[in-house]
Amino acid sequence: MEPRRPLIAGNWKMYKTSAEAVDTAAQLVKLTAGVDDVDIMIAPTFTALESVSKTLEGSHIDLGAQNIFWENEGAYTGEISAAMLKSVGCRYVIIGHSERRQYFGETDEAANKKIRAAIKAGLIPILCIGETEQERESSQTFSVLDKQVKMGLKDFFAKDLGSLVIAYEPVWAIGTGKTASEEQAQEVHQYIRSLIAEMVGDELSGAIRILYGGSVKPENISGLMDMPDIDGALVGGASLKADSFGKIVQFK
Ligand code: PGA
Repeated sequence: MEPRRPLIAGNWKMYKTSAEAVDTAAQLVKLTAGVDDVDIMIAPTFTALESVSKTLEGSHIDLGAQNIFWENEGAYTGEISAAMLKSVGCRYVIIGHSERRQYFGETDEAANKKIRAAIKAGLIPILCIGETEQERESSQTFSVLDKQVKMGLKDFFAKDLGSLVIAYEPVWAIGTGKTASEEQAQEVHQYIRSLIAEMVGDELSGAIRILYGGSVKPENISGLMDMPDIDGALVGGASLKADSFGKIVQFK
């Protein structure tokens, strides 16, 4: 089986104007010019996508969006379709981030439809899953993840999911400075991989990239990346500055 190529993805959330995003992206292009063994993605806000896309031209940093709507077009005020994201140069889209679930009521069913729309348009979906602190403390971690994966990927076949990326982001570790220990993260990643194997077979489960997210920093990335089932990271806060994200990308 081919080794899985690491992916380091930056989620810029609701930070940076278009000009600020271009500035950080331009710095990142320079800082990561020599990196060719890691896939890199940054996801600025919708309003910065087109200008950042131009900044990334000719670099090997890919563009991603932070959300998507599942219809192609129509009377859906405030929403953005897969075709629109493709048209400004997106390659990836983050789906079902815990902040979308927590503040905007996104469900596993919505994530499922969004994944379908992304794949149909040729975008790489990054499905985010993760338990809250309360769920971890009441020993529900695995059952919560089980539901998020099974419902998020309901009615998909292995042939549809060749590009899928999963991001395990324990909600209690996002933006809190508390990272899951390498062992805690590995245990969950291994579980997710076995779940995928059960659902769609060993071939896909061996190929699928599972990222860890939650307070990833230059100081903790190498330890996480040493774990056999951690294939990369989805980075929030530490991706906003080019120097720290540059260091994370060059974790080796
Ligand atoms: P954080 O965010 O790195 O700031 O914890 C991660 C994420 O929400 O994707």
